[in-house]
Amino acid sequence: MSKVDLSVKLGKLELKNPIMFASGTVGYGNEISKFTDLSKIGAIVTKSVSLKPRKGNPPQRIFETASGMLNAIGLANVGVEAFIKEKIPFLEEVKSTVICNIAASTIEEYVECTKILTNESTIKGFEINVSCPNVKEGGLQFGNDVNAVGRITEKVRAATDKPVIIKLSPNNSNIVEFAKTAEKEGADAVSAINTLVGTAFDIYTRKPKIKNITGGLSGPAIKPVALAKVLDISRNVDIPIIGIGGISSWKDVIEFMIAGASAVQLGTINFVNPNAGIEMLDELVSYCKENQIEKLSDLTASYVL
Ligand SMILES: Cc1cc2nc3c(=O)[nH]c(=O)nc-3n(C[C@H](O)[C@H](O)[C@H](O)COP(=O)(O)O)c2cc1C
Repeated sequence: MSKVDLSVKLGKLELKNPIMFASGTVGYGNEISKFTDLSKIGAIVTKSVSLKPRKGNPPQRIFETASGMLNAIGLANVGVEAFIKEKIPFLEEVKSTVICNIAASTIEEYVECTKILTNESTIKGFEINVSCPNVKEGGLQFGNDVNAVGRITEKVRAATDKPVIIKLSPNNSNIVEFAKTAEKEGADAVSAINTLVGTAFDIYTRKPKIKNITGGLSGPAIKPVALAKVLDISRNVDIPIIGIGGISSWKDVIEFMIAGASAVQLGTINFVNPNAGIEMLDELVSYCKENQIEKLSDLTASYVL
């Protein structure tokens, strides 16, 4: 076999390979660019951008756990105006697909943010964060309310011709209902999962390790949960799924694709090895050659149950 095709499709969006950087773990691309070649990565998802700048939560905002980490950043970001002025010029130069992640406290804010950003040619699609567990308003309430997720999808869909990806929360009883609603209201894809609510205490001071008391758990600890969610969604919806949760090696990428993912996002691993995504690409090619797979995308939802 001579050549392996690593490209994948997320609806009308084509990526050169399935490896994307997850929101909040690479800033606006600039923070990781010294350590890896962004032009080789399938896509970069920006830190959640909101209409107005947000300071986020007070520290301590991050705590390392067994096989993972807790974070309660609270959606700290520069806001849409500064994002356009200060961050887009850098992203424009990067030869990678840029997806802008949007967070908001109201449906109107999601729509306004999308409308402001939709004319930016650098942005090739939107990922809508309806599921951040670390903000008091917005985030988790939306992620827990299937009707709200439906309305957000419908209104954001109407505000842009660019691909719309709805990022789903694992912190509810039936993620499939949320995925079905996103599909029905016109989402091009769903991404799953955001972090799981968790906490940790100092046994001497008896205080929480995170000032916000709870944070979002990410990293290898959540991989089996994320895989089960991706499989469940894959068996019930037809739009593409972007798998997220604890992916740390090329084997994890393959596993998520078999379970139903069309592409994947790397989050916590970027803090361990910012070049991990690029290093996985050669391994994916070798796996495909060894297993006579010409198109990596043929693996999507190829599970044998
Ligand atoms: C420090 C940190 C900040 C994050 N910020 C965001 C964010 O702003 N928006 C968002 O949608 N997800 C955010 N996430 C969630 C990640 O994008 C991803 O869904 C999650 O970490 C699970 O993937 P992982 O186990 O590979 O890290 C953040 C995660 C971490 C660790």
